[in-house]
Amino acid sequence: MIEVHRVSKVYSVGPVKVPALREVSFRIAKGEFVVLTGASGAGKTTLLRLLYRDDLPSEGDIEVLGYNLVPLRRWQVAALRRSIGVVFQDAKLLPVRTVYENVAFVLRVLGAPRREITERVFDALRIVGLSSRAQAYPAQLSQGEAQRAALARAIVRRPPLLLADEPTGNLDEAMAAEILEALKDIGSGGTTIVLATHQARLAATLRRRTVTLDGGHVAKDEG
Ligand SMILES: Nc1ncnc2c1ncn2[C@@H]1O[C@H](COP(=O)(O)OP(=O)(O)OP(=O)(O)O)[C@@H](O)[C@H]1O
Ligand SMILES: [Mg+2]
Repeated sequence: MIEVHRVSKVYSVGPVKVPALREVSFRIAKGEFVVLTGASGAGKTTLLRLLYRDDLPSEGDIEVLGYNLVPLRRWQVAALRRSIGVVFQDAKLLPVRTVYENVAFVLRVLGAPRREITERVFDALRIVGLSSRAQAYPAQLSQGEAQRAALARAIVRRPPLLLADEPTGNLDEAMAAEILEALKDIGSGGTTIVLATHQARLAATLRRRTVTLDGGHVAKDEG
């Protein structure tokens, strides 16, 4: 599913070189739920961005869902991204659309039949526990609900891989726990999940394989 082989990433900021990842290697099997943790600046976001080909490594190879990401052509990048759901710290919902419409949006753009859209949207909302809020607007939602709507939007195409970058970063403990439960449900449906969080305590409560980055190195990979 994912194979990262001796990947390094150096950002150039003017004349300054900022090393973000150093010789990172690991494999993630289909259906695994992996927590990516480490202090702020350890390289978690950088690594996730490389996995959905938002950026290229400076060195090393990455294979995701059978695609070799380094020489990938533009149309293949689009195909890769269609197979990856992504959630961020901010839900980034369209404010003038209901929850239903936010989740349905990408299916509409792809021209899916209306019956299929309805079925898939309600499926996704049920998985994240938000069925009753389908007609609400983002401003009417709690932060936890908004984040669950973003999660529903990320899984509505039933992607085999879900990447989540600090999805609980803005949430209190109770709301964070709800997101984690939703992620576990998604994982038990067979979706491969990589969850990045700097919240070490939260990472520990998940009791899943945990890859710890420290200064761009894999410091630990256990569980
Ligand atoms: N676009 C960029 N340009 C230059 N440097 C960057 C860029 N993105 C990240 N960095 C640097 O790369 C290193 C890793 O950053 P990254 O955002 O991947 O860490 P992180 O583990 O996600 O941190 P956080 O927990 O704060 O989100 C840091 O030193 C950061 O300053
Ligand atoms: Mg980050």
